[in-house]
Amino acid sequence: MPHRLPNPTLKSDLPDAETVTAVRHWTDKLFSFRVTRPKSLRFRSGEFVMIGLLGDNGKPLLRAYSIASPNWDEELEFYSIKVPDGPLTSRLQHIQAGEQIILRPKPVGTLVLDALLPGKRLWFLATGTGIAPFASLMRDPDTYYRYDQVIMMHTCRTKAELDYGRQLVASLKDDPLIGEMVAGHLRYYPTTTRETSDHMGRITDNLTSGKVFADLGLPAMGRADDRAMVCGSLAFNHDVKAVLEGFGLREGANSEPLEYVVEKAFVGDGI
Ligand code: FAD
Ligand code: A2P
Repeated sequence: MPHRLPNPTLKSDLPDAETVTAVRHWTDKLFSFRVTRPKSLRFRSGEFVMIGLLGDNGKPLLRAYSIASPNWDEELEFYSIKVPDGPLTSRLQHIQAGEQIILRPKPVGTLVLDALLPGKRLWFLATGTGIAPFASLMRDPDTYYRYDQVIMMHTCRTKAELDYGRQLVASLKDDPLIGEMVAGHLRYYPTTTRETSDHMGRITDNLTSGKVFADLGLPAMGRADDRAMVCGSLAFNHDVKAVLEGFGLREGANSEPLEYVVEKAFVGDGI
């Protein structure tokens, strides 16, 4: 069934309808898509919005989604899981270019540069679709104005699940706006945990063992120079927080910038 919302031209009926411009499937569980951007939407890279479809009862069925595109992009990009029985994504995964979604243009979130103190290095720590906010921040020139080194650690079970991030990072060097900024300043450290690849292991283990610092030729994390943003499952976020606190970093917020910030990539079963 095509997802053309009723009366798409009647903006007064559906002020939050946006049109899908492109869809790409990465695995049987992951896809990304782009939509038109509401002219009035301003957001800070790293923030999320509510998006969705009309439910069978005619009411909007909305979920939180990190905006994966940078704030200068004319369109909006999202990177999504496909939950087989998920109320939204069991349908959203079939969306096609030309169809419409609902997008509430009220961006919020903690993964913003303003919530961190200045420093030398900024670490992005993500599992699974938790890379989405960093797909935005990695493309924001402000990230490179503020930090000399940016390190993207992304961990998934398999290599195929890393592809979205891998291709994005690879494309940045040819990007006319930020290609020069990322050269030599963005380090990418993808790992898998259930399939053999060049770098293996959980982010928590690679930080506590010091392996990632040795591999990248960097000093161990410390409060003076390092800042971090975290986005993954509740269990991942919980465990990474303990690791970061062990390095002396403290959790910050918009109202009180400190050394690290955390956002849920999704809310787990039963929580
Ligand atoms: P739901 O009923 O929402 O979820 C069913 C179950 O599926 C959950 O209990 C959980 O076990 C699992 N699940 C849900 N989302 C994920 C996920 N992303 N990865 C792994 N397992 C998951 N999802 C995205 O795909 N991309 C995003 O950028 C994104 N950003 C989010 C930002 C925030 C702040 C929050 C709170 C959630 C975000 N989510 C994101 C999750 C999203 O809101 C929905 O949960 C997801 O789209 C599934 O919706 P659903 O209705 O199909 O299933
Ligand atoms: P692992 O394979 O060792 O569980 P999931 O698909 O379950 O959301 O996990 C995504 C990735 O995050 C996997 O590579 C998984 O590693 C890793 N992961 C899951 N939970 C944690 C945690 N508590 N701490 C560190 N890494 C985690």
